Amino acid sequence: MQVITTCAEMTALCREAPRPLGLVPTMGALHEGHLSLTRQARTDNSTMAASIFVNPSQFGPNEDFTTYPRAFERDLELLAAQGTDLVFAPLPDEVYPDGFDTWIEPGAVAEGMEGAARPGHFRGVATVVAKLFTITRPDRAYFGQKDGQQVAVIRKMNADLNLGVAVVTMPTIREPDGLALSSRNAYLTAEERAAAPVVYRALQAAESLWRSGERNANRLQAAALAELQREPLVSAVDYVSVVDAATMAPLNVLEVGRPAMIATAARLGSVRLIDNVVLARVNT
Ligand code: PAF
Repeated sequence: MQVITTCAEMTALCREAPRPLGLVPTMGALHEGHLSLTRQARTDNSTMAASIFVNPSQFGPNEDFTTYPRAFERDLELLAAQGTDLVFAPLPDEVYPDGFDTWIEPGAVAEGMEGAARPGHFRGVATVVAKLFTITRPDRAYFGQKDGQQVAVIRKMNADLNLGVAVVTMPTIREPDGLALSSRNAYLTAEERAAAPVVYRALQAAESLWRSGERNANRLQAAALAELQREPLVSAVDYVSVVDAATMAPLNVLEVGRPAMIATAARLGSVRLIDNVVLARVNT
């Protein structure tokens, strides 16, 4: 496994590498969710590359960029054990050198939910992912469904800008009690951790209502919200939204053959957790 810190060297190595090449972009602090991506990328491709880059441009001024969990040496061990060929781990100045001033501005897909709660977040995500795509020119790139809106933003950018990457989405990996794996789970106190499965439980409440035939988005949202509000440690709910699973457009009514996603962001104390469930079934 080679660890590369410059864009030029990464581009040169990817150009020579056996194809297909699969890229797993990460911000490090790897967990089983990331490893499900690297495992799939290893299976699908002749070359497997991963990036570790805590991207400053996707964090707001009052967010956790400086305290975001970092575990570089452990990440390298995990990636080596997964059979990773190339690890791209640049410093911020390498990705955003002095004078960097070109940004990718996603459109409507990035307006609601995380885009509304975290202004500028998807501009930062789209820009860094576009850069990772052009630096490595992967055949495939792997992302987790846990960040459902991020996947939609990246798919749209990839299509709109003809980047030509096959974007592969892998299912959310959960703890046995349902909590979606996230590097930010490390911030939870023991008490908050015990309460955190409420986020998935809330989505499941809506999902089970949907399975029993409810198609009104407001009623599905209300079911999820009620579950979240039953948990005293939930200090705020940023949103519970039902959207088209591809465009992220808000839905009033769920329709046959139009996959929907119910997503939420809720705070347990100061920790903000996001999760989503796709509601897709081709019948009534
Ligand atoms: O999901 C993440 O870890 C990040 O948003 C990504 C895709 C690596 C871009 O920085």
